[in-house]
Amino acid sequence: IKRIGVLTSGGDAPGMNAAIRAVVRSCAYYDIECLGVYRGYQGLIEGDFEVLNARSVRNIINKGGTFLKSARSKEFRTPEGRAKAALKLKEAAVDALIVIGGDGTFTGAIFLEKEHGIPVVGIPGTIDNDINGTDYTIGYDTALNTVVDAIDKIRDTASSHDRLFLVEVMGRDAGDIALNAGIGAGAEEILIPEEDMGIERMMDSLEKSRKTGKTSSIIVVAEGEKSGKNIFELAEFIGENLEGYDIRVSVLGHIQRGGAPSCYDRVLASKLGVGAVEAILRGENRVMVGITNKIVTSVDFATAIQGSKPMDKELRRVLTITTV
Ligand code: F6P
Repeated sequence: IKRIGVLTSGGDAPGMNAAIRAVVRSCAYYDIECLGVYRGYQGLIEGDFEVLNARSVRNIINKGGTFLKSARSKEFRTPEGRAKAALKLKEAAVDALIVIGGDGTFTGAIFLEKEHGIPVVGIPGTIDNDINGTDYTIGYDTALNTVVDAIDKIRDTASSHDRLFLVEVMGRDAGDIALNAGIGAGAEEILIPEEDMGIERMMDSLEKSRKTGKTSSIIVVAEGEKSGKNIFELAEFIGENLEGYDIRVSVLGHIQRGGAPSCYDRVLASKLGVGAVEAILRGENRVMVGITNKIVTSVDFATAIQGSKPMDKELRRVLTITTV
């Protein structure tokens, strides 16, 4: 192996820069040339490359976002787009590629490898934590802390005004952020995509909590939750069916994807960046490196993106008990 390419793709996540840094420095350590690919798979198609050395990645371990930039490339979803990308990689004499991203990124990698035989290793980078074969994805811990911090602030004003707040957090298909940040921030109820608890249950719980003397409450709603109503419709429904609630909605949005990565994410990214380069050197292909009980492990791409990651049922029980 003489040359490794690295790119970030899909939704960015805090800690991606730390992962790129670890990949680049591992390449330098093992005397391999590293080629940075800008704008994910779109940059791959366009040949938007730059050789990176150990000094190219100075002062980025602490930065949010990804200096290589990211994209959700439509063209790469087509066989023609992937053929163009493969040609660019061959012209640039890239022996293997490291892709940092989530399920969409790994799906693209599977096709690229299958159709053009380019060895690919993945690193899980997404705030959603929705990838199998790793306890955590890069960016998730930072996003959790951002969400808890935001809800703490909302709690202050909710409590001053005796209000009910519905707070929307990210997670189209995964409720990890909602469930964990919700419990961490002391939410009353948490709605997630993995289970439809029914609006009735939420209404009962709100009714009960009011009877027990609660004057303000926070409901955390994952963007992909399954009630069939968006957060504003939910607020309206509660307002129409429960008397006396002063309700506000707060959609946290993309602030959840920004900010300096937490120490946990920086360390995780560093371990997985080294792990990805070493996996390539061992001849591994079509795998994602992940973390399981603190150990860096490899799991094939198909397993990593298969179905949805099982939710932590214990958290639901903990929520019920701690919101009594
Ligand atoms: O996959 C990461 C994520 O932040 C999801 O939680 C969210 O649903 C989505 O990306 C938003 O994507 P975009 O930034 O393209 O709107």
